[in-house]
Amino acid sequence: MRPSRVALLGSALGLCGLLLAGCTFFGVPTGQERTEADALEQEIAGYQGWKTPDWVEGYNESVHPLPAYVKYYVNDIGMSDIDDPPNGSVFVKEQFDEDKQLIGLTVMKKIDGYDPENKDWFWAIADASGGVTNAGRLNSAWTSNCISCHKKGDGGGDLLFVND
Ligand code: HEC
Repeated sequence: MRPSRVALLGSALGLCGLLLAGCTFFGVPTGQERTEADALEQEIAGYQGWKTPDWVEGYNESVHPLPAYVKYYVNDIGMSDIDDPPNGSVFVKEQFDEDKQLIGLTVMKKIDGYDPENKDWFWAIADASGGVTNAGRLNSAWTSNCISCHKKGDGGGDLLFVND
């Protein structure tokens, strides 16, 4: 290959690398995380039929940075032991504005071995119709630092608030 081609190829590869790093930074899932995100999207398709722990029934005023009100939905695995949620537990939080219009979802799923340092939570942001837009470890400034805030405020050491 001519040197100029090599350089071109090199910079194209470099650009791809940058894009991938950028995707991770912005929380847009790629590779294995894309697969997990797609599976999660399927899984939360029926979340409105899931249970809500009785101490948070209905609209709750939110401490979360974005919404005014939140509602909680937990899948059966999570409800089976909410104080120590087993692998496969999924927590969906609906976020509402001041007028109680649904503006989107945040989601946490426990996946065995996914991120042992952070209690194996897989984090996701979805739009109001359940389409996952961001997913993964989500701890950059652009993905609202899910992990660091959940670490800070959490009482039980499991990065969950709803069971504190
Ligand atoms: C500044 C702190 C903060 C940040 C950043 C944050 N959260 Fe939360 N999160 C909370 C608090 C506080 C609650 C309890 C409900 C409330 O007050 O809104 C909560 C509740 C939740 C819940 C319901 C389960 C639970 O822990 O009770 C989910 C799911 C969730 N957050 C996901 C996320 C995701 C995904 C992100 C990143 C995109 C994120 N959070 C970023 C503070 C934060």
